[in-house]
Formats: sequence, structure tokens, C-alpha cells
Amino acid sequence: MDQSLHIAKAPQAPPCTVVIFGASGDLAKRKLIPALYNLRACGHEAGPREFAVMGFARRPLALEKFRADARDWAARFSRLELDPQCWSDFAARLDYVAGLDQPDGFARLKERLERMEAERGLPPNRIYYLSVPPEAIEECVERIAAAGLIARPDSPNFSRLVVEKPIGHDLGSALELNRLIGKYFAESQIFRIDHYLGKETVQNLLVLRFANAIFERMWGARNVDHVQITVAESEGVGSRAMYYDPAGALRDMVQNHILQQLALIAMEPPVSLDADAVNAAKLDVLRALRPLPPGGARDLVVRGRYGAGALDGAMVPGYLEEHGIPPSSRTETYVAIKAFVDNWRWAGVPFYLRTGKRLRARESSIYVQFKGAPRILFNRNAELPANALSIRIQPDEGFSFEVMAKQPGLDLALKPVRMNLRYQSEFDGSSPDAYERLLLDVMGGDHTLFVSADFVAKSWEFVQSILDQWSADATIPPHEYTAGGFGPDAADVMIRNDGRAWHNPEQLNH
Ligand code: BG6
Repeated sequence: MDQSLHIAKAPQAPPCTVVIFGASGDLAKRKLIPALYNLRACGHEAGPREFAVMGFARRPLALEKFRADARDWAARFSRLELDPQCWSDFAARLDYVAGLDQPDGFARLKERLERMEAERGLPPNRIYYLSVPPEAIEECVERIAAAGLIARPDSPNFSRLVVEKPIGHDLGSALELNRLIGKYFAESQIFRIDHYLGKETVQNLLVLRFANAIFERMWGARNVDHVQITVAESEGVGSRAMYYDPAGALRDMVQNHILQQLALIAMEPPVSLDADAVNAAKLDVLRALRPLPPGGARDLVVRGRYGAGALDGAMVPGYLEEHGIPPSSRTETYVAIKAFVDNWRWAGVPFYLRTGKRLRARESSIYVQFKGAPRILFNRNAELPANALSIRIQPDEGFSFEVMAKQPGLDLALKPVRMNLRYQSEFDGSSPDAYERLLLDVMGGDHTLFVSADFVAKSWEFVQSILDQWSADATIPPHEYTAGGFGPDAADVMIRNDGRAWHNPEQLNH
């Protein structure tokens, strides 16, 4: 018997056009075109019945060439296998216009959009997806406005803006960018993407916490010893030196993906699943997040940088040897933070956050360790491992609960065992990619999985408290760690000093 409870059907999105600014860039290639294809793919139609995609970039390109490129990208990166017939239906919806950097480029875009909408009978519902470098966002927004491409928020047709991280480089620039975007678009028209929010397992955090009374009643300082949030990557900086070196792990991962997960794991139950209610509850977590106290950069934060090492049997270079990285770089590729959420629920519970590149494996997880059992029965001579809930965000999505059990036999022997759920074995079919979910929500106008302006501001306040100490104290260098390992020793020392240990990726394997 199917016992699934359908709370909400995926929305049927209205007809619209997605305009990709920077249509030949990496994001369009790897994520946007494949996701749009998957939304439309035959037999899986989740996207709107009628829609078009307008590529907008600098380079003049024949439409046929754009379609052929898009086919290549979809063939390489799409979750669903490319079906020739389905692809030709999708390809017919692709259009392209050049001139992103030309004085009359935005006027040409407008003209082309209007012509295309008239030809296809599409209403002017438009999604402007800014897949451009951060420094180009401001100009793009101003030019969209100047070209008269923004419908008022109360008009019958919508104009929506999608912006990717990084939103700003520090607190000041993030506030400035929020202000500028807000000058032209109402908050209801703005969709700030954090692709972690589109991941199936991240969405499951709300269900796990609030559909299972057993966890929610245990959730907080009374029962939880500490929480760890880990986003480990095996990839290095790759070809992204230009973006990554001025940013580093704190800006690239903590300010957004990690703080989003922290907010979801620590938030109070929202009063409804409405975007406003969920986003307000998440924001309250950041309001209670303790800024780094003076001297905290030494005791509560560890920054690291990968050196050369072996990964999957091959030698990989250290960060400073990577293409495009200046030898004087002090950028961190790893950061570990001991953070506190100073509210009634979490007072005194450390949240250990860490992320790094070139670690042993790509593995993201949230580990909630409960308090230990009292000593009276089984805990006299040996330290009983405490119960723990491990939520595997990726790759092997699922979660497990670690408990103690009696080992069968005449002796009284105890053994930690794992109750484990793997998405792959429990549920059929592959999960939609994060971008499929998020694009569908932009089309449907649902802000639940998007980042509010206030969240951006608050997350930067926390990050800025760390950046300020780093820049004030030039003697805090990144600790070197070997590629292919678990990160710098200093991070182990930080947690060990608290009598705790990292829950490392390979312990999550089964
Ligand atoms: C991006 C970061 O936001 O997230 C990258 O800029 C990082 O540096 C990536 O590699 C990780 O995303 P995922 O989905 O592969 O875990």
C-alpha cells in the first residue's frame, strides 16, 4: 500500500520565457540548460506547457549553433538521458541574441523578446536569470531597467530576477547590491539562489524535523551535545582561480550553503510552510548566531589551504601551484568554525561548521550528537558512544541513527549499530537536480527555497566578524593540509580540546 502523504503538488508553472544572461557561461552549460531540458523532458514534464529560453550573451552566434551547443551540454550534464524527439521539441524553444556588452544590446533583447513572444503566442512573463560574473550584476540590472524590461510587481504579467551567489564580497557590498536590486525590483520579484536549498536532502530537513515528533522533542540544548555541519569536496579550485582566490572558502561556502543548512537545522518550527514563515524562522537563527568574539579567530576558527597530495591514486598540486593563483595568496581553501546559536533552544550547544576543497571525498553531512547515557548501568567503566543522527546531504543521500544494541550471545556485550535509510534503495528514480526544483519555483513564484535580502545581510554580518579579525591579524596564516586528507590538524585540535571528534566522511560509509 502506498502510504505517501501528498502535501502539495509540484506547481504547474505558467507560460513564460527564461532569459539567460551569460548564456555561454559555465552555469548555463552545466546546470541551466540541462535543468530546463529535464523539466521539459518527454514523460517527465514538470515545467510549463508553453515556454521559451532566450540565450543572451556577448558573442554573435547563429541560432543553429547555439542549439547545437546546448544539445552538447544537455547530453553531457543532463540527469535524464537525451531523447532525440524530446530534444527537438526543446530545441525549438531555444532562441539566442547577442549584445550583452553592446550599447544597444538590451534594446535588441527587448525587441527580440517581443517578436518571439508574439510569434509563439507567449505572454510577456519573463525570468531574467543573471548568470554573469558578480561585478557585472549591477550594470545588468540597471540596463534591464533602462530598457523598460521590468513589469510592475502588480501587473498581470511577471518580470522576475534571478541572482546567483556571491551576493557581495563583504557586508558593505552585499547591502549595496541588495539596495541596488531593490531600487528596480520589488522583493517579490527577486529570487536569490542558493543551490543547496534545491537539494532533495536539504529540503528533507524540514520533513525530518517537523514530521517526526521524536526528533523535534529531542532537538535542543537539553538533549543535544553538539552539531557538526560538513561540506567536504575532493575537487580543487579547478579553472576558477579568478573568482575563487579573492573569495576563499568562508565567502564561497560558509556565507551561503553552510549557514543555510545551519538555519534549517536550528530553526524553530515555522507556523506554516509559507515562504514568509519559513524564511522568518530561518532568519531568527542568524539573529541569534553569536558574532565572533574578540580573539575568536584564533580559538574558534581554523583556516587551511591544501598542499600537494594524493587523491584517488593520483598526485594533485597544492593550491599555490594551481593555475592562476598568485604565489603570495593567503586565501583559505578550508575553514572550520565553532559557532553558537545564543537562543533558549540552543544555548551552550556548539555547532562545528567546516568545509574544504581537496579533501578525501565529496561528502556533505549534518551530524547531530545527542547527550550520553547516565553512568549507572552500562556506562561505568567504558565510555558508551552517544546516540547520533547523521544526515547525508550528498552523495549517498539518506540518514542514519546510531544506537547501542546488545550483541547476541551469553556475554553482556554492547555494540553500536546503525539504523540506516538510503534514498537510493528506499525510493524509486533519481531526484530532480537542485536547479530543476529552483527554476520551477521561480516560474511558479514560490520564494520558500530562496534567500531573502535579510538573510543575506545577517549571514554577511557573521562572516564579516571573522573577516575583520583575519584582516586585522595578518599573523594568522592558513594551516597547510595535505590534499586527499581530512583537513588541517589544527581543526582536529580545536574539536579535541572540547573532548569531541569530527565525524569524518569515511565513517559515514556503510
Ligand atoms: C558552489 C561553490 O557554490 O558550490 C563551489 O562556488 C562549490 O566552490 C560548489 O564547489 C559545491 O556545490 P555541490 O552542489 O557540488 O556540493
